[in-house]
Amino acid sequence: MGFYARVIFPWACDLIMSVPHLAEARREFLAQVTGEVLEIGFGTGLNLPHYPEHVRKITAIDVNPGMHARAEKRVCASPIAVDHRIINGERLPMPDNSFDSVVSTWTLCSIKNVERALREIRRVLKPGGRFFFMEHGLSDDPAVQRWQHLLNPLEKLIADGCHLNRNIPEIIERQGLRIVKLDRFYMDKTPKTHGYTYRGVATK
Ligand SMILES: C[S@@+](CC[C@H](N)C(=O)[O-])C[C@H]1O[C@@H](n2cnc3c(N)ncnc32)[C@H](O)[C@@H]1O
Repeated sequence: MGFYARVIFPWACDLIMSVPHLAEARREFLAQVTGEVLEIGFGTGLNLPHYPEHVRKITAIDVNPGMHARAEKRVCASPIAVDHRIINGERLPMPDNSFDSVVSTWTLCSIKNVERALREIRRVLKPGGRFFFMEHGLSDDPAVQRWQHLLNPLEKLIADGCHLNRNIPEIIERQGLRIVKLDRFYMDKTPKTHGYTYRGVATK
């Protein structure tokens, strides 16, 4: 992993993703999370202050050691016990049926083999467990889609493999998870190419 991905990108990501309107979106979204929790693509730990009070412990994984290092101060300051590990979400070491909730925010866009990661999420979810996702992806507007396809190579380059044009619900359902709730909207204060949001819950 190069200097850009390990040092510059985590710094930039932390700056861009810590804005107040996203903090509010995180708080609202995470209010539903319960039980044993796994967060994939933990990044710099921006979700951590927004978990509800009843969540006392989470397992948090990210593939990028630079993200892991930047998250440490939030992990140390949190009242939540965080098992914070550098792990690739495509190959989780946890046993089957381990978690009540798996959380992913703005992460499925950048996992290289996202299908494999989703199969892992399905495997580690307990029966009846829930996968909570809030992700940007392919718009339903063909005009926006055209721009998303055009900008995708540049986005992958500057945002460490992030795709603008993934149809997140389709990918989730293809891996055997059943979406039980789905909202689609453009995130406030974000260009349409980057702000088309899928927010939902899937079960096994
Ligand atoms: C745009 S950042 C979002 C970070 C965080 N979820 C948030 O909401 O602020 C995407 C994160 O996914 C992580 N990621 C990408 N591929 C991954 C993989 N295969 N396994 C685990 N994490 C991964 C990246 O390192 C990065 O921290």
